[in-house]
Amino acid sequence: HHAAFRKVWMKEDVIRTLPERKRASHKGVHGKGLIIGGSQRMTGAVMMAAKAALRSGAGLLTLAIPETIYPVVASGVLEAMYHPCSAKNGGFAGEIDLIHLDMDAIAIGPGMGRLEGTKPIVQAALAQEVPVVLDADALFFWSDYARFLKKRTSPTIVTPHPGEMARMLGLSIREVENDRFQVSRQMAIDYGIYVVLKGPYTIVATPDGKQYINTTGNPALAKGGSGDALTGMILAFLMQHRSLEAAISNAVWVHGKAADFLVKTKHSPFDVLATDVISAIPNVLSSLC
Ligand code: APR
Ligand code: MG
Repeated sequence: HHAAFRKVWMKEDVIRTLPERKRASHKGVHGKGLIIGGSQRMTGAVMMAAKAALRSGAGLLTLAIPETIYPVVASGVLEAMYHPCSAKNGGFAGEIDLIHLDMDAIAIGPGMGRLEGTKPIVQAALAQEVPVVLDADALFFWSDYARFLKKRTSPTIVTPHPGEMARMLGLSIREVENDRFQVSRQMAIDYGIYVVLKGPYTIVATPDGKQYINTTGNPALAKGGSGDALTGMILAFLMQHRSLEAAISNAVWVHGKAADFLVKTKHSPFDVLATDVISAIPNVLSSLC
């Protein structure tokens, strides 16, 4: 019943939709973001998501992390604020208080791990009436979150790679990859969410059946941490753009373009780190503004 609309998201679309940074702006104007994630085994993911968000214009950023990793994360990301949470087995213990945080958008999942204790954390995030980005381990108990999604009146964005997408839908990775357009579009419509199906030619599918295809990026991104950086960038752009689909498509475009810039200048596809991609965000943004 929805007309199929597909568009390749181009540099001119990014330039047209990228918000301007007004001269009289202050940090509150550019949004208050919250990133929830991290665990003993994965301390870097949430740090990279945070740095990518800050490099993408986030005004104020708070990180909610298990208290056991607070010292290492807080000493690595100086620009963020912190909300240390009770911890168990190196991850979230299932308790979190988000009520007083007053956030404009939330991203949850990077490095969070797959302990049972993460479920109430994801549910608490989905209970906030702000845009929520679910990534990585926040997608692991996907079927438990369906009824929380239905109650939401604010946008939900999921950012699975093909393996995560397959698991969420009970399909094989091959079934997802052979039918990327149809699978991502149907999921977005069925759940009323934005689906970012990652990989070469990342697809952004909207709840009303539209799809935007990205052509930036290269195999330098096939390394742990790339996805965490993208999550931070999506969070930051969500808080600053008027249009949600433009925000997401621009984050995906800039993320890929940063990797392309590195490979064109001083790197090979072998030696690019996710932190290099984050460091290259300014090269891309400065070419657009
Ligand atoms: N060409 C273009 N883009 C690519 C390519 C490629 N060949 N390979 C990867 N990318 C991009 C993807 O489109 C995506 O934006 O890099 C990013 C990779 O994201 P993820 O697959 O989420 O990678 P990563 O950061 O390593 O996340 C790993 O995800 O599955 C979980 O448990 C896993 O926590 C781990 C995390
Ligand atoms: Mg990932």
